[in-house]
Amino acid sequence: MLAVGVLISGRGSNLQAIIDACARKELFARVAVVISNKSDAFGLERARKAGIETVIINSKDRQRIDFEKDMIEVLDARGVELVVLAGFMRVLSTYFIRKYKNRIINIHPALLPSFPGEDAQKQAFDYGVKVTGCTVHLVDEGVDTGPIVVQIPVECQEGDTVETLAARILEQEHKALPRAIQYFAEGRVQVDGRRTGPFPAHHDAGLFLQEKDITFPENVQAAKDEGNIIPFREEAADPELPVADAYPDG
Ligand code: GRF
Repeated sequence: MLAVGVLISGRGSNLQAIIDACARKELFARVAVVISNKSDAFGLERARKAGIETVIINSKDRQRIDFEKDMIEVLDARGVELVVLAGFMRVLSTYFIRKYKNRIINIHPALLPSFPGEDAQKQAFDYGVKVTGCTVHLVDEGVDTGPIVVQIPVECQEGDTVETLAARILEQEHKALPRAIQYFAEGRVQVDGRRTGPFPAHHDAGLFLQEKDITFPENVQAAKDEGNIIPFREEAADPELPVADAYPDG
């Protein structure tokens, strides 16, 4: 199972969505650790309730490199393969991002590249857009600029307030983030410049397939050779294994 480390700063409803999706066995993943940079983050309660290890690493009044080195130590010690930012309110340094190249995702409450940064729902509402939504993207060195993995649109409705709109976006966030994690868990995330894709969609045949079973087109092979494709995972590699039987924890 893909070992996921979730970074939070607050409420943790997206964390809850991941926990619930794992419990429903919709994810070939487990949350190995939840790290919060705030000791009073409600998400910590959610993690504890689910029996997930929590670690508080304060970021306030600390050098960013020290804070991040502490996080890396925790993540590496738990064998974390995918870092999920779920309402994590700190910008990560190049150091951290390079360490987990193409293995950090973030959920953003707008359809990027529109409305990056804070208060994205309000930015979209104030702009008067008819459609907004949410985006799961790989984290690169910019703010909300990394390649997009999953997007779900949300229509603005007559009579909406920022709050009602944000609530409908949040519902979709709770679908988008687990979906993106599952793409990683299945080893289906390929990064080719700005484009990512679950590729190829052999999962739809109901089997987790080995990398060797797939013939990559030339451009994909080149991206793969450069290390830009996340390899298929060993645990998910039994071609005989039906999806329903793929969860060793029962
Ligand atoms: C979400 O709206 C997410 O898109 C943004 O921060 C919020 C976190 O909410 N990055 P929660 O802590 O997951 O409830």
